Order: sequence, then C-alpha cells, then structure tokens
Amino acid sequence: MAGNFLHLLLLLPLLIILSQTFPTTGETLTFLKSVKLNPMKLRTEKLSHFRFYWHDIISGPNPSVVNIIQPPAKNKTSATGFGMVNMIDDPLTVKPEAGSRLLGRAQGFYGLASQEEVGLLMAMNFVFSTGKYNGSTLTILGRNPVFEKVREMPVIGGSGLFRFARGYVQASTHSFDLKTGDAVVEYNVHVLHY
Ligand SMILES: *[C@@H]1O[C@H](CO)[C@@H](O)[C@H](O)[C@H]1NC(C)=O
Ligand SMILES: *[C@@H]1O[C@H](CO)[C@@H](O)[C@H](O)[C@H]1NC(C)=O
Repeated sequence: MAGNFLHLLLLLPLLIILSQTFPTTGETLTFLKSVKLNPMKLRTEKLSHFRFYWHDIISGPNPSVVNIIQPPAKNKTSATGFGMVNMIDDPLTVKPEAGSRLLGRAQGFYGLASQEEVGLLMAMNFVFSTGKYNGSTLTILGRNPVFEKVREMPVIGGSGLFRFARGYVQASTHSFDLKTGDAVVEYNVHVLHY
C-alpha cells in the first residue's frame, strides 16, 4: 500500500506535464502557438541612439502639416488652441537645414490636448528611407509641452529592424517662426531593439 503511494508520488510530476500537453478537452488551438523563447533567433538587444531634425512646415507652397480638426466655434478663443488636431508628413533630416539629407519622415498627427499650456498629444510613426533602415518604422506616442526646453516621449514599438523596439525620444526646439508657425525640432531617439 505504502509502496503504491510512493509510486504515485513519483509519477505525479509526469502526470501534471502530460495533462498540460494534452488538455482533457482534446481541442487543438490552431490560432495560437507558443514559440521558442528566442522567436527570431535574436542576437542580444542593443541600444541605439539617433539624432535628426523634424521639420513641421506650415507656410509656403508645400506644407507638411494640414489642420484636420478645429474646436467648436464657441471654444475657439482658447489661448492654448485646445481641441485642434493637425495631420503631419514631416521630413526628418540629418541637419537642421531643410535641404540637408533626408533620413525619413514623421507621419501621424498631433492634437492640442492641454487647456493650461500648449501641450500636444503626439501620435506618429518615423518611417526611415535610408540604407538598411529603409522601410523600418518607430512609433512614438506621448505628451509634448512645446515650450519646454526638452520634451520626452515614449517609443512604444517598431517594425522591420525595429521589431520589439522600446525607448524614448527627447525633443528640443531648434527654431520656431512665430509668424508662420514653422518649426524645426531636434529629436534624440534612444531605442532598445535587436
Ligand atoms: C467651451 O465653451 C463653452 C461656452 O463658452 C464653455 O462653457 C466651456 O467651458 C468650453 N469648454 C472648454 C473645454 O473650453
Ligand atoms: C527603399 O525601399 C523602397 C521600397 O522597397 C525602394 O523603392 C527604394 O528604392 C529604397 N530606397 C533606398 C534608398 O534603398
């Protein structure tokens, strides 16, 4: 009797493993499959730092920004522009000069999301067009109080060479034309990726 009990104890781990491998329902889940811990035969994760300039061009014949939402007329007086949303397809260049080498574009939108100051909610994809990064993207979603010296926003993901990316950007205004609204912003991007 005691011997049988001991056998059962020894078998217990095996029984547990078997019951997990072959669920009693007998159903096979075809839409979901566990993959190996290292799904992409990934090398070690690395930290990359990029620096480039983001051009938000409102004036001139080829603006890179369009206003897509205006707040209701009764709220338009807000000094912080609260409620406005712009869609962007902004060039990203190596240097602050507009004509310098193009690295990619920032596509997405920003909304004026603060009643107290000029504070943007930014949702944009950096899509790169150079070298091995051609076609790879990084997604930025964060808060941008534009009059602060350095604004930090999260990098929440990426595609292509930036699969599994996470990190942050630090944005600081390089130049801002009060008359036209045109802005050049330096972006320092720190991302962990494979
Ligand atoms: C929008 O305007 C109305 C009418 O002036 C005002 O009562 C309301 O507080 C405003 N809302 C915001 C979010 O500014
Ligand atoms: C980037 O990829 C696109 C689409 O695959 C291709 O047309 C273009 O020539 C590539 N550019 C560079 C600089 O490799």
